[in-house]
This record gives sequence, C-alpha cells and structure tokens, in this order.
Amino acid sequence: MSSSYDIIIIGAGAAGLMCAATAGYRGRRVLVVDHSNKAGKKILMSGGGRCNFTNLNSTPANFLSDNPHFCISALKRYTPQDFLELVERHGIEHEEKAAGQLFCRDSSREILDLLLTECEWSGAEVRLETVTTEVTETPAGYALQTSAGKLSCESLVVACGGLSIPTMGATGFGYELARQFGLEVLPTRAGLVPFTLHPELKTRLAPLSGVSCPVDVQCNGEHFREPMLVTHRGLSGPAMLQISSYWRPGDTLAINLLPGRNAQQDLTALRHEKPQSTLGHYLNQQLPKRFAQAFADMHNWHGPLQGYRNAVIEQIAETLNHWTIKPAGTEGYRTAEVTLGGVDTRQLSSKTMATLERSNLFFIGEVVDVTGHLGGHNFQWAWASGVAAGAAA
Ligand code: FDA
Repeated sequence: MSSSYDIIIIGAGAAGLMCAATAGYRGRRVLVVDHSNKAGKKILMSGGGRCNFTNLNSTPANFLSDNPHFCISALKRYTPQDFLELVERHGIEHEEKAAGQLFCRDSSREILDLLLTECEWSGAEVRLETVTTEVTETPAGYALQTSAGKLSCESLVVACGGLSIPTMGATGFGYELARQFGLEVLPTRAGLVPFTLHPELKTRLAPLSGVSCPVDVQCNGEHFREPMLVTHRGLSGPAMLQISSYWRPGDTLAINLLPGRNAQQDLTALRHEKPQSTLGHYLNQQLPKRFAQAFADMHNWHGPLQGYRNAVIEQIAETLNHWTIKPAGTEGYRTAEVTLGGVDTRQLSSKTMATLERSNLFFIGEVVDVTGHLGGHNFQWAWASGVAAGAAA
C-alpha cells in the first residue's frame, strides 16, 4: 500500500466519494480515508432508505448560508440533471415523489454502490477504519498521522461532514482542521430537525401522536407549506423540519392549520347558513378527524355556531389560520438531518472549494456553511462541491 498520494480526502461520504472519482478520472492518485467501518453511512439511511439523491428544481434559493452567493457557481456547473445522467448510466431505477424530488425506487444502497464503483473505475482508493490523528503542512503538501501509519499528499480535501447523528460517525474534525489552518468556523446548529414542546403543550398534543396534516408554517420571514406530523415528543414532518433551519431558540412558530382557507369567512358564512352547525363539524371537514376532535376539545370549542359572537369567531379563526406556539427546543444533533453553519465560505474559492490562502487545501460538502432545504438539495450540494474540488485538486 502506498503512503504518498496526489490527493487525500478525509471522509468517505457523499461529497468525499464524488470528489475522489472526479479527481481519479483526471489521472490523479487519490486516497479517501474514513474512520468509520463503512463508507457513506448517511447515504444508506437517507430518504427513508431510498435516498432522495437530488432535486430537479434545486436553485441557490434552496440553500442557507451566511454568504448566499457562494454556492451558485458550483451548483451551476454540476446540476441535478448531471447527477441524474450518472444515475441512469448506472441503470438505477428512480422515481419523482414530491415535485422534483428524485428517489431510488429500490434502495439507497444503489447510490453508494454507484459512488464506490466510480471510485474503483477512476482508480481512487478508499481506506476505512483509518483514524487521522494529526495533519501537518509540509513543503510538498500535507502529512497525515493515521492509525494506518504516516500518509502524505500534495492536496488535502476535508469532507468530514457535520455534527448531525454522531452514532453514524459524525465528528467535528473538519471544523478542527479548518481552525488549525486559520479559517473561521461559523457557529453550528442542528437543522432539518423535529421540535420538542414544553410539557403543557406536549401533554395536550400527545393524543394526536401519529396524525399528519398539511399546514403553512412561518418563522423569521420564511414559510413552508408542507405536512406537519405530531409525534410523542413534539412536532415533526416536512413542514417542521424545513422551518427548523430558520428557527432560533425562543422564536415563535405561526402555523396556518387551514392553508388556502379563510377561517373567519368560512365560519361567519356557516353560522349564517347553518346556525346549528358546530365548530367540530367544520373542523372535521378540514382536518384529520382525530386532530379536529382533539383541537376542538383543547380549546373548548363546543356547541352550535349561533352561540358564538363575532369577536369569538374572529379569535377562533385566528387560532386556526395563525396558531402560534413556542417550541421548547429541537431534538438536536441526535436526529438532525444536517448541521447549519460551518466553514465560512468567504475564505474559500467558489469555483474550486480551495481556501484562498492555500490552493491545495479544500473543504466540501456539509462541513462548509452551505445547507440545503429538505428534498434532495443537500446531496446536490455534496455532488456539486465534490465535483468542483475534484476537478481542481
Ligand atoms: P457525510 O456525513 O455524508 O460524510 C462525512 C464522512 O466523514 C463520513 O463517512 C464520516 O464517517 C467521515 N468522518 C467524520 N469524521 C471523521 C474523522 N474524524 N476522520 C475520518 N472520517 C471522518 N440529504 C438529501 O439530499 N437527501 C436525503 O434523502 C437525505 N436524507 C438524510 C437522512 C438522514 C437521517 C440524515 C442524517 C441526513 C440526510 N440527508 C439527506 C443529508 C445528507 O446525508 C448530507 O447532507 C450529506 O451526507 C453530506 O455529505 P458529506 O459528504 O458532506 O458528509
């Protein structure tokens, strides 16, 4: 086994493997090292086991970053269509679930196999269970002290991912390396993560665990119209995961339980047309039955509508179209799909992902301060940033 390479990539995840194959095809001698016993563990568990590997509608607007323009160049040069072509060349059957979201029809395993096959064909080597303990700069590049001995390379690519799901091998090593080389690491926090609730609301919503309904949720100027799921721990489902990336501790969420409907107009008209009709009856038509029942009980909304004064109707409508809750927190990195923040992109080239100070040191994927919305955008960033670095390193 050689110990000297043109490029060493730390992290055999989505971004690292994509980068390895791209550089390998350019004739570079590439080694990927990972401390884990398996490559691409997050790919395997992604998309409920079917890997939502890209999103055909992905645009820079689907990403959060302190430097929002940074991601544009790489995303433009390696598009969802490019990855889809690769998937099709490998004969992987896929399907579009929600608009633009492409999933494997069979298993996430196929995407990992695609990447490992591409690495093999391109001549890139992957070494697992290899712990890197120290990285130092040398006149020729970098020297790595690892559990498999000393390794050296001209270019180093850091593709260690973020902090989410530590049980899958996530560490803060990428951030440590960034700091070691003088880069700023922006504060990190869990994103695409379920909310936890204060005990009182949690108890009130507990009977609704498992119920899902479409909502429009707002926070800090962003909103998402997607399903919300009540769980025994709090609130989840796509709507809550999406908005969690914009939420900060102490913030309030405004949830429209009847998106597209004006509850005040509906209830006023109903009271006029059918005065004996109840709120429970109206809610049963608009929301899942269990949710409607529990929500009416929770607010003590009983009796015929004719007994409700205008001011009360207005208040009820406000609750339905603008239900405000203050989450206790989130489930944190334990279950978060992504880590927000990370290596400040102002110190990286948007074309190559190399640091501005050292043209042979690269940061790609989730370790960088670029985080996608739910729906295949995060893998698209891993592919695009991996290709950008692989073409330059
Ligand atoms: P990634 O985390 O994939 O890889 C980092 C690699 O570095 C790992 O192999 C790790 O072992 C290794 N590593 C860490 N520390 C190291 C160290 N000290 N030394 C050596 N190696 C080290 N996105 C999406 O677009 N569609 C989807 O369907 C999903 N679904 C999904 C489900 C779940 C449960 C999670 C947790 C996440 C998703 N995501 C997703 C997000 C997606 O998985 C994520 O954005 C990418 O995997 C990021 O790719 P990276 O290669 O940057 O990191």
